[in-house]
Amino acid sequence: MDSLFSLLPPGSATDSDGMLLVEGCRADALAAEFGTPVMVVSETALRARAREYADELTSRWAKSRVVFASKAFPCTAVQRVMVEEGLGLDVAGGGEILTAIKAGVDPEKVVLHGNAKSDEEIAMAVEHRLGLVVVDNSDDVDRLESTVPSGRQQDVLVRIIPGVTADTHASVLTGHEGSKFGLSPAMARTLIARIEASPKLTMRGLHVHVGSQILDVEPFADSVAPVAALGEFEVYDLGGGLGARYTYADHPPSVPEYLDALIGAAREHLPAEAEIIIEPGRSMVAANAATLYRVVTLKRQFVAVDGGMGDNLEVALFNQRFEAGIASRLNAADGEVVTVVGRHCESGDVLIDGVPLADPRVDDLLAVPATGAYCFTMSNNYNGNRRIPVVFAVDGRSRLVVRRETWADLTLRDAE
Ligand SMILES: Cc1ncc(COP(=O)(O)O)c(C=O)c1O
Repeated sequence: MDSLFSLLPPGSATDSDGMLLVEGCRADALAAEFGTPVMVVSETALRARAREYADELTSRWAKSRVVFASKAFPCTAVQRVMVEEGLGLDVAGGGEILTAIKAGVDPEKVVLHGNAKSDEEIAMAVEHRLGLVVVDNSDDVDRLESTVPSGRQQDVLVRIIPGVTADTHASVLTGHEGSKFGLSPAMARTLIARIEASPKLTMRGLHVHVGSQILDVEPFADSVAPVAALGEFEVYDLGGGLGARYTYADHPPSVPEYLDALIGAAREHLPAEAEIIIEPGRSMVAANAATLYRVVTLKRQFVAVDGGMGDNLEVALFNQRFEAGIASRLNAADGEVVTVVGRHCESGDVLIDGVPLADPRVDDLLAVPATGAYCFTMSNNYNGNRRIPVVFAVDGRSRLVVRRETWADLTLRDAE
């Protein structure tokens, strides 16, 4: 069986006493400095992944660009890394626009999504002169037409439902016929004609996104032909969705395998001079972070830690399985199979249902790999939980990029 190192951020190792090192930083030192739970991100691995995506895409389709799907880890520091690596940002909503701007993105490289964009969000997109607004419905067009000042033009894409399904959790499937996102090809045709006649909008192209945590390449390839059937445009944004490796049993396609399939379909169906955009989120960030928890108590088969569904909702929402190990005994032989539970008042607050741990004890540090995607963004204050900090590790040095919430933060929004 694989060791936990195959799931931990690339470059993880053990120190001479067996303690986990993430990017040369000892897990116990990180826990002592920043407390637990704490999310540790390998900045080196994050940058390498961003470069891998950009290089692999441009080597297959020269006129192309990668925009990071901010929703997977909408933290200014992560967005800044992507910007520094030359990527654009996909944002869904006003909050992600603001952090993207703070991260220093060129607004021209921002793509705005949303199936229910508010007047305020459309106004923010126009004010910040975002490069592309992805139109999801005719109300987006109404709002844009009443917001874009006379004499200016906003570039838009239209989101298409390709009628493609994929083998993933129903909650993260978006390209099937019943999807709440985008327009059927017939509806899209009508809206495209309206946009083409609009004095304030420029119809640049089409967008498609089939879902998330997709572990085979066919759905991506299959999504291209339905989009191509709508005619020739300058830009095709083919979405994100590539799955990440959470468990020993997962074998997601590599970035080259994914792009071979996607760009192979693009060569077959799309105009050679078009620009291609992709929007990876989960597969960009998941594997480059791990969360460190403190073991609080042991009871029967349960190992209870000081976090749970307040910092990782992936388990409760999507049944996502994670693996784990005791940070000081990663090289030890596995012990008994236990159930790792969180501290929240829900029986569903189970972090891992059945994982072998080497002789777990109170005060041990538990390392859970692959928490870089969608955990930060869905963290919450359930049971008065203080949302956890994010620490970047690079070459033996660590730095806090998001602090833990304080007790005082929890009453900051009280109106009286
Ligand atoms: C429009 C759009 N693009 C990109 C993504 C990123 O998907 P993933 O994180 O699975 O790569 C999403 C998320 O579902 C999305 O809705």
